[in-house]
Amino acid sequence: MSKDQETAVVTGAARGIGKGIVERLVADGYRVIALDRLEEVHDVAAQLRSAGATVEAVSIDIRDRAAIATVMDQFGPIDVIVNNAAITSTHRFEDLTEEHFRENFDINTVGTFIVAQEGARRMRNGGRIVNIASRSFAGASQMAHYVASKAAVVGLTRAMAIDLSPRDIRVNAVAPGVVDTEMLHYMTPERQREMLSLQLLGRIGQPEDIARAVAFLASKDNRYITGQVLIVDGGRSLGQGQLPPEDAPNA
Ligand SMILES: NC(=O)c1ccc[n+]([C@@H]2O[C@H](COP(=O)([O-])OP(=O)(O)OC[C@H]3O[C@@H](n4cnc5c(N)ncnc54)[C@H](O)[C@@H]3O)[C@@H](O)[C@H]2O)c1
Repeated sequence: MSKDQETAVVTGAARGIGKGIVERLVADGYRVIALDRLEEVHDVAAQLRSAGATVEAVSIDIRDRAAIATVMDQFGPIDVIVNNAAITSTHRFEDLTEEHFRENFDINTVGTFIVAQEGARRMRNGGRIVNIASRSFAGASQMAHYVASKAAVVGLTRAMAIDLSPRDIRVNAVAPGVVDTEMLHYMTPERQREMLSLQLLGRIGQPEDIARAVAFLASKDNRYITGQVLIVDGGRSLGQGQLPPEDAPNA
């Protein structure tokens, strides 16, 4: 590890968007600490290491504060934290159980808080934190538990940006729209087709699309942006699909 190399911690790094973020941060020259409760996180790290990257993997549950603190002590000081690990599911509101609701909060919101706090305690001044929210923080069907947990992540991001500003730590959120990962595989092919028809740019997002936005907010280039939510959804949240061109009225 060179003297100038920065260290980035990424949660939920075994697959999907988290894996895409690890690959991007490695390409940008960071030493990456990849965390996930799935053992596959070791395969991700091994593959990148064989290509010359500096990556460490730890199997860990982000809710385990003592284990997170140990990892931060072992690999700190930290320059960047990307809080990406989360779960989701769909349920009719009438059937949504308190257990589902609490579990989503426990992982998506409290887990994010734990990693951010233990990381911030060991972060160099001038560090950056990126929390992965979801475009659905503004509302989504049959996901009240997930929507509420991600709206809380947005609130947490804004509050952290204020509280950590004296140390010049910039804290932002990225809110992805629909991205092609295992998280989407619970959808029927019909629902996936419907989703595609709603995408203004004509395609479902790829993990790399999210990783690019994260990479900017996590970088030293982000000098003056904090407390913001960057929606990365191919324009879907504009609420308007493409209409066929109309004949010019006065032609
Ligand atoms: N895929 C999408 O369409 C989409 C849309 C909006 C937001 N997001 C957000 O992007 C992030 C990544 O989503 P994804 O689609 O890659 O999901 P994914 O399910 O493919 O990956 C999530 C990863 O987080 C890990 N994880 C979950 N709970 C954990 C815990 N308690 N401790 C440690 N690791 C844990 C999982 O093992 C998994 O590897 C999530 O925050 C998700 O809410 C995804």
